[in-house]
Amino acid sequence: MADAELRRPEPATVAEPPTEARLAEGGLRLEVDGAVATVTLARPERRNAMTFATWRTLAAVGRSLPSEVRVVVLRGDGPSFSAGIDLSMFSGGEEGFPSGEDGAAGDRFIAELQEGYTWLRRPEIVTVAAVHGHAIGGGFQLALACDIRIASEDAKFCMKEPALGLVPDLTGTKPLVEIVGVNRALELCLTARTVDAAEAARLGLVERVVPVGGLDEAVAALTVELLAVNAGAAVATKRLLLEAPQNTLAEQCAAERREQLGRLRELSAALRG
Ligand code: CAA
Repeated sequence: MADAELRRPEPATVAEPPTEARLAEGGLRLEVDGAVATVTLARPERRNAMTFATWRTLAAVGRSLPSEVRVVVLRGDGPSFSAGIDLSMFSGGEEGFPSGEDGAAGDRFIAELQEGYTWLRRPEIVTVAAVHGHAIGGGFQLALACDIRIASEDAKFCMKEPALGLVPDLTGTKPLVEIVGVNRALELCLTARTVDAAEAARLGLVERVVPVGGLDEAVAALTVELLAVNAGAAVATKRLLLEAPQNTLAEQCAAERREQLGRLRELSAALRG
């Protein structure tokens, strides 16, 4: 991912947060409490199925995050994290899909939806997906877009898109392959099978598994741990780790030196008062 995509917008360009009406149209709730923002998928009666409005509103949330926010939690209301794309959209609900005939227009259309996910990788924030119940298709990809996945024992992950004649196109293929490798990713996507929480933990798809009912408490505890780390070190470390898969060893060593010198400059300046 290009550096520019990973940077938080400059303060002058931070947008207004989406209105309550826009959040409701996207099936979302947003709570910002100091350093922690919580985005809730809030259509439990549809198992938090997501529409184009959901993804566009998520992008708007990303553009409007106050600079104080260091941790963003994504969670779902009701029995599931998210059942993925709202299937009613295939039968003409909301608005149509691009036909694919006009390549440029279709490309812009999907790129705009992907913006709902790409901001979750910005170094200035650590993003946590709190997954319970089903995370299917676009829901699984939303969890994959986050830095840390914490799941309850009832979590189930499924990359359903190929079974519906589609590909996963909401940024999920890169993190999936980085986590499980090409062969396992192929097996998971082309069988569209469901992975339970225990297997997800074995595959590295989730970082922590907690008992059913214990997710909120576990996320709160994780948030405390994340906020206890020096803020500048957290940003620099995430930036460094995100670069690592693409870099050669020499490039990564250079990146470590650059980031460490930045840290040392900041720590010495703080000591001098
Ligand atoms: N879209 C629209 N409505 C959905 C939905 C979806 N993805 N998933 C569930 N719902 C609705 C159901 O139709 C049902 O509505 P009614 O009460 O009106 O009948 C309600 O939510 C509750 O659903 P269930 O009774 O099925 O709930 P459950 O807890 O027994 O099962 C489930 C949950 C396993 C998620 C099941 O609902 C299911 O399999 N849903 C479909 C999942 C799916 O195929 N998603 C598409 C993934 S591909 C994708 O996401 C593509 C992309 O991003 C590009």
